[in-house]
Amino acid sequence: MTLEVKDLHVGYATAGVLYGVDFTVGQGQSVALLGRNGMGKTTLVRAICGLHPPTVSSGSIVYDGVDITRRASHQISRAGIAVVPQGRRVFGSLTVRENLTVVPRRAAAQTDEPWTVDRVFDFFPRLAERAGSMARSLSGGEQQMLAIGRALMTNPTLLIMDEPSEGLAPSILDVIQDRLEGLRSSGLSILIAEQNVDLALDVAEHVIVIDDSGTIAWSGAPADLRSDSALLERHLSI
Ligand SMILES: Nc1ncnc2c1ncn2[C@@H]1O[C@H](COP(=O)(O)OP(=O)(O)OP(=O)(O)O)[C@@H](O)[C@H]1O
Ligand SMILES: [Mg+2]
Repeated sequence: MTLEVKDLHVGYATAGVLYGVDFTVGQGQSVALLGRNGMGKTTLVRAICGLHPPTVSSGSIVYDGVDITRRASHQISRAGIAVVPQGRRVFGSLTVRENLTVVPRRAAAQTDEPWTVDRVFDFFPRLAERAGSMARSLSGGEQQMLAIGRALMTNPTLLIMDEPSEGLAPSILDVIQDRLEGLRSSGLSILIAEQNVDLALDVAEHVIVIDDSGTIAWSGAPADLRSDSALLERHLSI
């Protein structure tokens, strides 16, 4: 269950964004995708998940040995890749429980315990308390929990998250970070795009950084990035 992105070129009708991105997310690995505003994190996430726009012009995306480049998003979901989109995108006029039950589900791998509404509620007890509430009435943190829970309901083998920390209060961030670390230790593969470098480096065991050349400008271990202030300044304005 390895994700292999090779020489990927992705862009919009108006402009190219990514010009040859190469990286791998190994089985059970957690990878942080970093880069300043507008460098193309969301573009890359959407390309992997089969969401349009953008358009993949060349290169390949292979998951578990299967070429999924330009496949429809429902096919990619069925292959085991779930996404928590930037801005959460929960269904505001559905209840919390309905948000969790409307998603098309795939069978869990034989070795994995399937996700159910009750399991999501055990994982995020706050959601159980809000089960009957309209999603639009939830706080930002609760909506983020719901977006993660909704992704987990598809029984993914790879969870891709696009800036899950965006706009969240520090107390909620701690909860989300703790839960992501739990998912990582359960063996789920994770790709997390973030501007919050502290969160990303705590969750990830490998880091890739995209810059304005539209390629991977740096990759390596979280500790090596943390200790390199010139690198942090150049790529992440820290
Ligand atoms: N729908 C679109 N049509 C045309 N250009 C777009 C579209 N969406 C994004 N872009 C452009 O593509 C580039 C990459 O944007 P993208 O959203 O992938 O960056 P990002 O790294 O996710 O940024 P952020 O951290 O702010 O979320 C930017 O120049 C952006 O303006
Ligand atoms: Mg983005």
